[in-house]
Amino acid sequence: MADPDISRRLALWAERVEQALDRALPPADTMPTRLHQAMRYSALGGGKRIRPALVYACGELLGVEPALLDAPAAAIEMIHVYSLVHDDLPAMDDDEYRRGRLTCHRRFDEATAILAGDSLQVLAFATLAGCPAPPARRLEMIELMARASGTAGMAGGQAIDLDAAGRSLTLAELEHMHRLKTGELLKAAVLLPAALVETSSADRARLDRFGAALGLAFQIVDDLLDVTGDPALIGKATGVDEARGKPTYPALVGIEASRRRAADLHAEARAELAPFGSRAGPLLALADFLTARVS
Ligand code: IPE
Ligand code: IPE
Ligand code: MG
Ligand code: MG
Ligand code: MG
Repeated sequence: MADPDISRRLALWAERVEQALDRALPPADTMPTRLHQAMRYSALGGGKRIRPALVYACGELLGVEPALLDAPAAAIEMIHVYSLVHDDLPAMDDDEYRRGRLTCHRRFDEATAILAGDSLQVLAFATLAGCPAPPARRLEMIELMARASGTAGMAGGQAIDLDAAGRSLTLAELEHMHRLKTGELLKAAVLLPAALVETSSADRARLDRFGAALGLAFQIVDDLLDVTGDPALIGKATGVDEARGKPTYPALVGIEASRRRAADLHAEARAELAPFGSRAGPLLALADFLTARVS
């Protein structure tokens, strides 16, 4: 059972980012309506909203005004949703279900899903560019998000993932791929709030290491859930990684060693927050929730 306090906070953060996304997304009845409907279908009303939760929890740790956090929280979810819409396409993982409903290309069509992903990605940057923070801080967030999403982050990791299907990777290669495709964006979620206020380089380095460890643990858990998870709970099919010859932690080292590695990374992430004292409470509870999750 998750800590009831973190469950309540997660629900509040999810509601907050849902509203920010709803405000930022183009109305479904404006032209081109099919594209706008696809963007809203994929971005609204689903998902665990982990990355926005990390933005809010880390913002709380750093004492950032909550109103300033809505833009980075919505923007990082837009990047994530775009990555999922494209990840599910026939040219990538070819998946039929996401967040308990049809994937974007199944509900609409492939071309619309490609454009919905493209449009969510640029809307994320427009959201950061237009947020109520001083220009230098907006620029820093834009730079951070670009790095985490591009070839040294999510897109680069996805390229390695596709290239590796059906081949075996070494553990170091697999870990590198996971750090890029998932870790960099989770890391960005804790670095975005740090870009909004004066943050010492020591604190940034701690958050960087915390995000990196948690990000890798998160993808290992995602790999584990593809083997051990309940599709009804996780809202997507299971067993697909093995069927597609995807390099994953359980495929390479087995289930038990994968669980141990995730637990070690979780402990590593927790240790990074010790110097922040009690202010780190919500972020620690979130890290616990993420590594122990079953959905
Ligand atoms: C799934 O991410 C893809 C990965 C990067 C592991 P999430 O597990 O956060 O998916 P949603 O947002 O809850 O649907
Ligand atoms: C996804 O990894 C990573 C992304 C950048 C979207 P997966 O392909 O394992 O994610 P799921 O399992 O489809 O959510
Ligand atoms: Mg994939
Ligand atoms: Mg996938
Ligand atoms: Mg997966």
